[in-house]
Amino acid sequence: MPLLTAHNLHKRYNGIHAVRGISFEIAEGEIYSLLGPNGAGKTTTIGMLTTLLAPTEGEAEIGGFSVTRQPHKVKEIIGVVPQEIALYDDLTAAENLRFWGRMYGLRGNALQKRVAEALDLAQLTERADDKVGTYSGGMQRRLNIAVGLLNRPQILFLDEPTVGIDPQSRRRILDTVLELNRQGLAVLYTTHYMEEAQELSHRIGIIDQGQLIAEGTLEELIRTTDVRESVVLSLDAPPEDPAALCAALEALPGVEKAASPDANLILEVEAANAALPRLLPRLSALGHRVRRIELREPNLEAVFLHLTGRALRD
Ligand SMILES: Nc1ncnc2c1ncn2[C@@H]1O[C@H](COP(=O)(O)OP(=O)(O)OP(=O)(O)O)[C@@H](O)[C@H]1O
Ligand SMILES: [Mg+2]
Repeated sequence: MPLLTAHNLHKRYNGIHAVRGISFEIAEGEIYSLLGPNGAGKTTTIGMLTTLLAPTEGEAEIGGFSVTRQPHKVKEIIGVVPQEIALYDDLTAAENLRFWGRMYGLRGNALQKRVAEALDLAQLTERADDKVGTYSGGMQRRLNIAVGLLNRPQILFLDEPTVGIDPQSRRRILDTVLELNRQGLAVLYTTHYMEEAQELSHRIGIIDQGQLIAEGTLEELIRTTDVRESVVLSLDAPPEDPAALCAALEALPGVEKAASPDANLILEVEAANAALPRLLPRLSALGHRVRRIELREPNLEAVFLHLTGRALRD
């Protein structure tokens, strides 16, 4: 049985249909990413799954408990790391953790132990007695995650945990997620960074305008949308007749599609190593000089573009 099941979740705010029938499952020990642009409905979906928002329609279960009818049971087995940092600036890291730990019903030695573990996990033990207001954005993010783990959850919800922080803190957060997952923790991760979804996830749901528009492993998403490897060639001058040049190149075996914005040629190919030895002599024969060659692997950005006609980032 999956650890989490969402059935046809909807959320309407006055006039705004923010989530429009989202269904998916997360298995025990799985990292599932919701990848989507700003306003796609990621935070709203997490809000409903973590019992903070009532669904307008639909239902979800976590660990066999209903998020609408058994919210207290659900809260015992989930950890939530909100998109907006929920820490007290005037308290130290240790004080923040003790405060949240007591909210989870921890007391005495058990509380001390969990607080020490959380500080260690966030790599903040040495700064434990400094006020959180003096922390960098990355340190606050790490502490925010540690708070979400205080009750040793079975599944952790991380809502865009790396936005606006330095690369080193970002790396630490990704490594922490991977390590926790190795120890058995399931994760629902939201992001609009395709690199993070690609690196972390067992499966990815692509969310756009309140709907899941595709789902699967990275390989499955690339295969089902049929996006190909592409070759980007920079010419020394824009072609006089781009349409004719593209048609000539598309006639070559292994070249699926050609486009020519400016002096660039973007070619979707079956395999670059087979296509290049045909492309380069042909271009040369047509009087074009290639200044630069770039290969692009099929990736989630291409999948998103293919599905929506838009780029992931605004
Ligand atoms: N409390 C609210 N009242 C009215 N509309 C809301 C409310 N919260 C969210 N929305 C709207 O619902 C839609 C989805 O928002 P949501 O915050 O879930 O998106 P998101 O994918 O988390 O975006 P981001 O990447 O910017 O965090 C947006 O159009 C947003 O304006
Ligand atoms: Mg959000």
